[in-house]
Amino acid sequence: MLQKISQLEQSALEAIRAATTQDELEQVRVIYLGKKSDFTAIMKSLGSLDADQKREIGPIANAARKKVQEKIQSKQQELEDAFDAQTQWIDVTAPGKRDNLGHLNPLSIVQRDIEDIFTSMGFEISDGPEIETEYYNFDAVNVPDNHPARDMQDTFWIDAPRGEKHVLRTHTSSVQVRYMQQHTPPYRIIIPGRVFRQEATDASHEHTFHQLEALVVGENVSVANFLDIAQSFFSAFFGREIKVRLRPSYFPFVEPGFEFDISCTICSGDGCSACQRTGWIEIGGAGMVHQNVLEAGGYEKGKYTGFAWGFGLERLAMMKYKIDDIRHFHSGDIRVSEQF
Ligand code: PHE
Repeated sequence: MLQKISQLEQSALEAIRAATTQDELEQVRVIYLGKKSDFTAIMKSLGSLDADQKREIGPIANAARKKVQEKIQSKQQELEDAFDAQTQWIDVTAPGKRDNLGHLNPLSIVQRDIEDIFTSMGFEISDGPEIETEYYNFDAVNVPDNHPARDMQDTFWIDAPRGEKHVLRTHTSSVQVRYMQQHTPPYRIIIPGRVFRQEATDASHEHTFHQLEALVVGENVSVANFLDIAQSFFSAFFGREIKVRLRPSYFPFVEPGFEFDISCTICSGDGCSACQRTGWIEIGGAGMVHQNVLEAGGYEKGKYTGFAWGFGLERLAMMKYKIDDIRHFHSGDIRVSEQF
């Protein structure tokens, strides 16, 4: 009996090894493990053995049967894998999936363009903190406490139970005196940066926006220098001849102070709906740096002159890309940035 079991096991394993298809393997299974198979017959015949023989032969017969079962299973897996490998293939001619690429916000594009133009004109780029002391945002640029000019800009104050009061900077002019304290004229810099004002938002107002400050200080720097640099810059930025016009205005940190306009980028000054038929578009504030500011920067009184200007970057980006609502820039809506 033991010999018969061992022979049966051997020939079953042999047959399994020889099977090359899933059908052949199924036949082997029926022959060796099916209802009418020799194994089944042996298992049945165990019942008629006496107790001692049962104890000896039973486990051996079971083990042999189990081994054959396991071999069939693993062979089955092997044949399935081989079948998959033959039938599953990759269509190398199928068109690829396009990856989603990120896009720069139009503001970043405009800021980079502007930085390129100014660096090509010999300017350096500087910046300062967005959370600023009351001193650099106001006092240093000639806006003392209780001065009515403080109300020109609605300020986000930061709670400070002890120590110096801080604000979210209301303009990039806050960097002027910081820069002066570290540098000796002559120099020409731009300061692009984020600024904050506590105001209601609408299509042309945001509480968080960007400004571009320019500061040029040296001996004999004049309004004529400002006009020339501004015209060169705006012409380069819009890719066409742009004129700059000054109107007298007041900012505490400049004397004389101006607001400045550029000739309409759409009609070139003839008058159209974009410029309300005036031919001019308001851009920002400018002026000759006040001597109090130069003194706060640590310069000897009367030694240097300089000009400064500041304007909103969003405004420029809106004109360049015909964006009709300033709130698009910070909306986080990828449908906006995907267009750039
Ligand atoms: N800081 C001013 C503003 O935010 C703009 C400005 C800058 C005006 C420099 C004059 C000179 O409104």
